Amino acid sequence: MVLQDILDKTFLEREDILRLLDTQGDEYESLLRKALDVKLLHLDNHVHLRGLIELSNICRKSCLYCGVRGGNTKVTRYAISEDDAVACAQLAQRLGYGSVAIQSGERDDAEFIDKITRIIQRIKEIDNGSLGITLSLGEQSEATYRRWFEAGAHRYLLRIESSDEELYYRIHPHDARHDFHRRLDCIDTLIGLGYQTGTGVMVGLPFQTLEILAGDLLFFRDKDVAMVGMGPYIPHPDTPLYAFADQIPSSEERVKMTLRMIAILRLMMPEINMVAATAMQTLDPFGREKAIIAGANVIMPNLTPNEFREEYLIYPDKACVSDKPDECFSCLDLRMKGIGHDILYNAWGDSPAFLKKHPRES
Ligand code: 5AD
Ligand code: FES
Repeated sequence: MVLQDILDKTFLEREDILRLLDTQGDEYESLLRKALDVKLLHLDNHVHLRGLIELSNICRKSCLYCGVRGGNTKVTRYAISEDDAVACAQLAQRLGYGSVAIQSGERDDAEFIDKITRIIQRIKEIDNGSLGITLSLGEQSEATYRRWFEAGAHRYLLRIESSDEELYYRIHPHDARHDFHRRLDCIDTLIGLGYQTGTGVMVGLPFQTLEILAGDLLFFRDKDVAMVGMGPYIPHPDTPLYAFADQIPSSEERVKMTLRMIAILRLMMPEINMVAATAMQTLDPFGREKAIIAGANVIMPNLTPNEFREEYLIYPDKACVSDKPDECFSCLDLRMKGIGHDILYNAWGDSPAFLKKHPRES
């Protein structure tokens, strides 16, 4: 089939996706252009912000790719206080970000769960609940997810990392703490509780094939998630997976493959929210802009106090580590205008895909 016929289809099959994942040259450019057209048609040229608070790098897990994995003794562990986390959210509100995302290494002890609950409640008190709250705090019990939802969080990001069980266990230890099926169950629980739920994968992992990447895209569609975050894998020297760093595509190709993934998913799910990951900008100075032009519509500027950012290096050379929050603010606005996009300030920026299914929320 000629490429244009695939791009014009309303429902992509597995073999269409495989063909699009393999595009080069002019065909690759056509894919990205079509994805931008589809995005502009459904979501306009709007970009939504989520001010990112990297709450703590203390983690009970040991994912084989992650720089802050529990097993890495080179990291100085920190936890931002409740007051400082709320202050970050106040800054987000002053800057007009509309939403915050709280991310942390994974913990499930009562002290942590209570702290998060209080932070959510206090953020909801800012300006009469004007800030949206996304959580990215890993696998938790249904009771905990419910508690945080009732406290006022309404979005949750839990990347599946890879939807292929075999690859999942090549990038995670095969033990009770890193159970593929528990992760799937958590995603279902979050959706069931009414969270606007997001998932995602890393692109360019060792052992990852085009078939696996096609499976990831089909997984997102099958789960009918509201948000997706995909970024290139960046090998971290202090992690076990670094042993395979010579077996992955070049950083340029990992960026391109991530752009293909974003563009194809935009064709498959025109109304979901998709993040332009910071990891894109780490590998390419215009990585985030490229992701927006390929179909993404959300950016997560970092609000973490600078003293802690150096310790939240899930991958090396993370972008913007030394920028101050207000510098990020003006830099991003200019960068988005430069590519014909407008940041929508003071808005939650929920995905139309989710709002259609949950009209009460609008
Ligand atoms: N390279 C790229 N992304 C990574 N993440 C963790 N480690 C790496 C890495 N080395 C991503 C995971 C996780 C998110 C917070 O960061 O997908 O879900
Ligand atoms: Fe912390 Fe994976 S290493 S959740």
